[in-house]
Amino acid sequence: MIELSGVHKTFGANQVLCGVDLTIAKGTSMVIIGGSGTGKSVLLKCILGLVTPDQGRITLDGQDVTTGDRDAFLARFGMLFQGGALFDSLRIWENVAFRLMRGALKRPKAEARELAIEKLRRVGLGPHVADQFPAELSGGMQKRVSLARAIAAEPEIIFFDEPTTGLDPIMSGVINDLIREIVTEMGATAMTITHDMSSVRAIADNVAMLHGGKVRWTGPVTEMDATTDPYVQQFIHGRAEGPIESLR
Ligand SMILES: Nc1ncnc2c1ncn2[C@@H]1O[C@H](COP(=O)(O)OP(=O)(O)OP(=O)(O)O)[C@@H](O)[C@H]1O
Ligand SMILES: [Mg+2]
Repeated sequence: MIELSGVHKTFGANQVLCGVDLTIAKGTSMVIIGGSGTGKSVLLKCILGLVTPDQGRITLDGQDVTTGDRDAFLARFGMLFQGGALFDSLRIWENVAFRLMRGALKRPKAEARELAIEKLRRVGLGPHVADQFPAELSGGMQKRVSLARAIAAEPEIIFFDEPTTGLDPIMSGVINDLIREIVTEMGATAMTITHDMSSVRAIADNVAMLHGGKVRWTGPVTEMDATTDPYVQQFIHGRAEGPIESLR
């Protein structure tokens, strides 16, 4: 469904992506792992067209993502940004229902609010938060609101950038289950970035490790533990010693 070939991106002298090749099949869950600053978030933004690659090709259903109707393209995606990116002047329910209040998906206000409350419940937040503002919530609660917003319009393809960072272990488990459910029950295609190895195991069908601007290793999650790749081994076991340099 999504295919990247030879994707390059440099910021000034900083060569971030230097030839990324990756394929994500429809209805599957791909998890991207890799050290901080290796370009995982940049990669997601390249697919969405928020960052323009210098070289390479990205296709969705065989069509180049830079061609065609941009609104129709984006309408197929939901995105949880790493930093949450909530609209701080909108109430929680208005953030979650943002897309349900405009464009082709526009619903009556009361219905959009009901849907927002239902999505908030899915991420473990009660209806009392609906009328609050983002600044009134904790960091982990804001993250969950962002997640509710990403899934609110039930998009075909969902990108999650660090969905469980900053959450307690129980809430991380709830969110992992939710992501898995969205893929298996709703048939969505998901791409998740995470540092949390228990999330990787709970969410992934396939895993890709980004290192040195390229996909260092990719394969089914069931084969991840058995790979002899020293970079993957160091990462999944969190070892200080190994080929991955700690000064980045
Ligand atoms: N808009 C930008 N302008 C300049 N440099 C950028 C920009 N976005 C990202 N970078 C650089 O690209 C590199 C990769 O950043 P990115 O956010 O993709 O890392 P990451 O793998 O997501 O890391 P983390 O795990 O810490 O979130 C970093 O060196 C960062 O400074
Ligand atoms: Mg990132």
